[in-house]
Amino acid sequence: MVAIIIHGGAWDIPQAEHEAHLRGVKQAAEAGYEVLQRGCSAIDAVEEAVRLMEMSTTFDAGAGSVLNAEGEIEMDAAIMDGSTLGLGAVAAIKNVTHPISVARHVMEGSSHCLLCGDGALRFAESVGAEMRGMPPTAREMDRLQRIRGIKNYQQRSAFTEGPKGTVGAVAMDDKGHIAAATSTGGTPGKIAGRVGDSPLVGCGTYADDESAGVSVTGFGESIMKVTLARRVCEGVERGMTAEAAARNALDHLARRVDGLAGVIVIDSNGEMTHVFNTPYMAFASIDHEGAYIASIGKD
Ligand code: GLY
Repeated sequence: MVAIIIHGGAWDIPQAEHEAHLRGVKQAAEAGYEVLQRGCSAIDAVEEAVRLMEMSTTFDAGAGSVLNAEGEIEMDAAIMDGSTLGLGAVAAIKNVTHPISVARHVMEGSSHCLLCGDGALRFAESVGAEMRGMPPTAREMDRLQRIRGIKNYQQRSAFTEGPKGTVGAVAMDDKGHIAAATSTGGTPGKIAGRVGDSPLVGCGTYADDESAGVSVTGFGESIMKVTLARRVCEGVERGMTAEAAARNALDHLARRVDGLAGVIVIDSNGEMTHVFNTPYMAFASIDHEGAYIASIGKD
């Protein structure tokens, strides 16, 4: 019994970008599922799926990352192994092509869980990580110019605070182990050094074979205040279905901090769900029977 679920961000995704988002999440689901079918681990599958989305400029991750206020890309990523609670994360890392793979190196090749900034970059170099060498996209340079041109904070927040296309994957392998991975460029125009929810354990990413694997997308400053991913797992531990736990956690996010987000979940029974309170969420999944679903809207 293997399964994978993918997200490519939950926000007011413009109509013109729907097709590219759907294509991206479908390709990631197929790539991850193929890894699982070969008998590889859930960790292998979520890393492969997220690496594919880090290569696409459609999403706010890897090559498509938004720019910070200084015009630079700083990325966050985390990966977690639900069988061991092994955890690796990087925050505010520059120049690497695949932050999710550096996060995996942190998990498997260091005695730490989270590395940030220059130290994370030096660690990435020391393990031979691929360096990006790709310029910021024209889309993101244009977005930053618009952000810099807007003096009024209310208007400015429309550009800077909306969730963008963070990417994530959760998988269950043929041994029943669950893994989760999340990667993001964060929020556009963010202060240099800002870290979002994605690399913070229990906020944007969590996996525990005894409850569920969860990857979150949305506005990090809200998500981290309620440790959203861990909250979903707690719901499952209290006996809720994956869907009920995800809805309950999102309701709490909305009520306590007026937050907007989307979550993908696979619980220890193999139940998969995606839940969001944003206008759109790009998602795709393939279950243990090979049944394939992908959507961007509420239906
Ligand atoms: N959820 C991505 C971020 O806020 O950085």
